[in-house]
Amino acid sequence: MNIAVRYCSKTKAGNTRRIAEAIAKGAGAKAISIEDEPILSEKVDILFLGGAPYANIMAPELKKYAEELDPKLISKVVLFTTSNWSRRTVNALRKMISNKKIMVCEDYFYAHMLNIDGKLEEAEIFGQKMSR
Ligand SMILES: Cc1cc2nc3c(=O)[nH]c(=O)nc-3n(C[C@H](O)[C@H](O)[C@H](O)COP(=O)(O)O)c2cc1C
Repeated sequence: MNIAVRYCSKTKAGNTRRIAEAIAKGAGAKAISIEDEPILSEKVDILFLGGAPYANIMAPELKKYAEELDPKLISKVVLFTTSNWSRRTVNALRKMISNKKIMVCEDYFYAHMLNIDGKLEEAEIFGQKMSR
């Protein structure tokens, strides 16, 4: 099974990156920033994709990344997000990606920005469970 973990993480704390790395550990994959690889060009069975809201919207590069996903390359997407309160990044990504006729799992991972440490183990288990 080919599994990709991609994330967009903008603050110095790297909250979404840390959750991405824990998910990747569980899934037996590597977490890669979309800023390092702005296009997904390999065929994947599962794409774990995560980001966070900044002033109510996701980073423009994450929006672009999701818009450019190729349905021919991806079987399924699993979303994750970190934030202060909002889950809108997951909702917006789900809508955009589903509209492209790519399957998006109902289940997603959420971690509050102030409880990243407390969620790392759960994120790892989530990565393992969702990639089974
Ligand atoms: C400039 C800025 C704006 C933010 N706006 C929101 C927001 O509108 N809603 C929210 O729930 N969290 C908001 N947050 C919190 C971030 O989404 C949260 O810290 C997230 O974990 C950041 O992820 P990152 O460290 O991977 O960049 C904001 C944070 C910053 C720095």
